[in-house]
Amino acid sequence: AASPQRPPVIWLHFMECTGCTESLLRSSHPDVARLILDLISLDYHETLMAAAGHQAETVLEEQLKKNEGRFICVVEGAISKKDGGIYCKIGGRTALEILNHVAPKAQMVIAIGACASFGGIQAAHPNPTGAVGVRDIIKVKPVINIPGCPPNPYNILGTILHTLTFGRPPETDELGRPKFAYGRKIHDHCPRRPHFDEGRFVEAFGDPGHQKGYCLYKVGCKGPVTYSNCPVIRFCDVGAWPVGSGHGCIGCTEPGFWDTMTPFYEH
Ligand code: SF4
Ligand code: SF4
Ligand code: F3S
Repeated sequence: AASPQRPPVIWLHFMECTGCTESLLRSSHPDVARLILDLISLDYHETLMAAAGHQAETVLEEQLKKNEGRFICVVEGAISKKDGGIYCKIGGRTALEILNHVAPKAQMVIAIGACASFGGIQAAHPNPTGAVGVRDIIKVKPVINIPGCPPNPYNILGTILHTLTFGRPPETDELGRPKFAYGRKIHDHCPRRPHFDEGRFVEAFGDPGHQKGYCLYKVGCKGPVTYSNCPVIRFCDVGAWPVGSGHGCIGCTEPGFWDTMTPFYEH
């Protein structure tokens, strides 16, 4: 059984692409094996667990009974609200029913990714399924949002480890995002910022300015209006991140970015 130092985690998948889980699987400090075996007790995760079908449903119910009030509920994916939520069903139940069944029993709820935080691409106009994020449904307890598409795995690991270490979740902004990760704009610590300040811009992808690593603002970079620690923490051990790889930031940590940050490319 999980000790208080090794909190049980129930991870729910709704309307999503599993990119957030894939991103977490590629973390290495700690790696996912250490996370699962030493730091948390990942008791229910449809991508990683061996059980399937009815067996999986039974595991979920058993874990809920055993760990009520103690487990961390992580949600990946948006939730359909339209027409009673019939556009997303798992094991015969709507995502809406499952979330309302599981999340209120958790000690803490974490929405991982743009989908679970703010509805993601499913919620983009015209939002045919009435997709929303977890905070639009779960009002009985605070929901920590770790947006991004996918989010940086260290931001969810940092949130869990902070909670384990200090016995309380990290401080968040008004959108529920931990300030340690989402407290500053991409533009504030972008390595291309000196080019912005000096007026050296990429005018078109592949042009000489692009080859020299100039600022991507004129081709659509949304770094000046996007809050995230990507330039500092980067992704995986190769240090890659969108702007570092020559692509403008598309604002994937901001609510409704598929509608509000488009067009992603400008020239
Ligand atoms: Fe996939 Fe992005 Fe949604 Fe994560 S936030 S599940 S990566 S679409
Ligand atoms: Fe700002 Fe984007 Fe230019 Fe970086 S590339 S300095 S984030 S506008
Ligand atoms: Fe997303 Fe922009 Fe970071 S697109 S991954 S917030 S650089």
